[in-house]
Amino acid sequence: MDTHRSLPSSTVNQGLPTPEYIFRSIDEVAKRLKPEAPVQCVFPQSVRSQAEKFISLFPGKVLYAVKCNPGPDMLRHMYAAGIRHFDVASLEEARLVKGLFKDAKLHFMHPVKSRESIRRAYRMGIRDFSLDSAAELMKLMEETKSARDLRLFIRVAVAGNAAAYDLSGKFGAAPSTAADLLRHARKVAAKVGLCFHVGSQCMEPAAYAGAIGRAWDIVTKAKVKLDILDVGGGFPATYPGMTPPPLEQFVDAIKTAAQPFVEQGVELWCEPGRAMVAAAGAMLVRVTLRKGRRLYLNDGTYGSLFDAGALGWRFPVRLVRPLKGGRGNTHKDAGGKAPSEKLVPFMFYGPTCDNLDKMKGPFLLPEDTQEGDWIEIGMLGAYGSTMQTRFNGFHSESVATVWPEAVPFAFERPRKKATVLPTAPEAVVQAVSALRRAGKAKAAPTQPQMAMATPEPEPASPNLNAAGDGSTPPLSAK
Ligand SMILES: Cc1ncc(COP(=O)(O)O)c(C=O)c1O
Repeated sequence: MDTHRSLPSSTVNQGLPTPEYIFRSIDEVAKRLKPEAPVQCVFPQSVRSQAEKFISLFPGKVLYAVKCNPGPDMLRHMYAAGIRHFDVASLEEARLVKGLFKDAKLHFMHPVKSRESIRRAYRMGIRDFSLDSAAELMKLMEETKSARDLRLFIRVAVAGNAAAYDLSGKFGAAPSTAADLLRHARKVAAKVGLCFHVGSQCMEPAAYAGAIGRAWDIVTKAKVKLDILDVGGGFPATYPGMTPPPLEQFVDAIKTAAQPFVEQGVELWCEPGRAMVAAAGAMLVRVTLRKGRRLYLNDGTYGSLFDAGALGWRFPVRLVRPLKGGRGNTHKDAGGKAPSEKLVPFMFYGPTCDNLDKMKGPFLLPEDTQEGDWIEIGMLGAYGSTMQTRFNGFHSESVATVWPEAVPFAFERPRKKATVLPTAPEAVVQAVSALRRAGKAKAAPTQPQMAMATPEPEPASPNLNAAGDGSTPPLSAK
């Protein structure tokens, strides 16, 4: 088990005794860091269980779509859970993954790449590329000097109307073009595949069946042997007001529709992003000002809350107000009073001066929510902090690992003085070694070196509040 956690140096200035830290709860993150900037909270247990679920259910290769959340911690936990294949959209992502895991298999599935990216990616050892035009095929051949070991994937245009995020407008070849490209690719590539994307947050398993049916028609028309069928991403997560069928139903629909391919020896791949990590991340944000039912936050549409602003998604929220009197930091700004039990709807405003930087919600929070309070915004592991800009100078790279399950070996009493531990505490090393011996732990990339949460039990977080409809998505924060 990888118990290593490193916080960016920015958090060291916020009173952390050491840059290596694992927290037991989001409340503890607020209590100990008192963060002025938004903090991305990562839940390793969630990443790992989703990755394991995909690997066990999907009848083929599972590629993680790195763009969704390229956080090194997310990637490490995914790797620890067995993910070895990564769909990268850029050289930058390719370098990031390769820098973390030497044995990672990279697949460059962006259908439009710069010549330099193709050249460098090929030199890095990447052989899998997607395309949806003859011009891109030409570029690929020229920049790899007509390499004979390429695996080329034709991206097929498919309907995106079952998805909350329709991706059909930008990429994808129409069936007749796709058939032509497939024939050409077959002549020059070592292996050929078809790929598609049914749109992100796809709510209907039948959408995959429809896209696979289209792929079948294309192969039949092209009259060539297909090696790989990549059904892309699009697998949904549960958000307030959006409760999709379980992953099993999506996999069943794919299996049934892809049966004719499988019978011909075609390998299946998928590239999940959102469904893998959405529940594995939350943002801890702070209220800068309250005006009536409007809360001005330190994060917004140009930060981690793009989907809340641009798409009006109502993410689950929970007030985080550490009380006075506990061990560690107290919350003087908010008076340390227990929050009101009455929930009322709020609208959020982000920190920039732009008028678009607002999120209408409504977000249900205690009626006495006030300046200085923190708010946990859940289900932001996917396309959350990764979307943030530096607009108006607002940007935060703070990350905190929240891992209650790590308690038996990850914590000791807080140190009075800020110190950086030279080596891992002996007890931690022993506990990690014991776990490794028991076969439960995967090698940590670096020596675990961590400190120190308050030892008393934290109250479990109540469910995050899904605004409006009363349906509550899975609780990500404990
Ligand atoms: C090529 C490709 N694969 C996979 C994904 C991941 O999609 P999702 O997050 O919907 O699973 C994307 C997202 O844009 C993509 O462009």
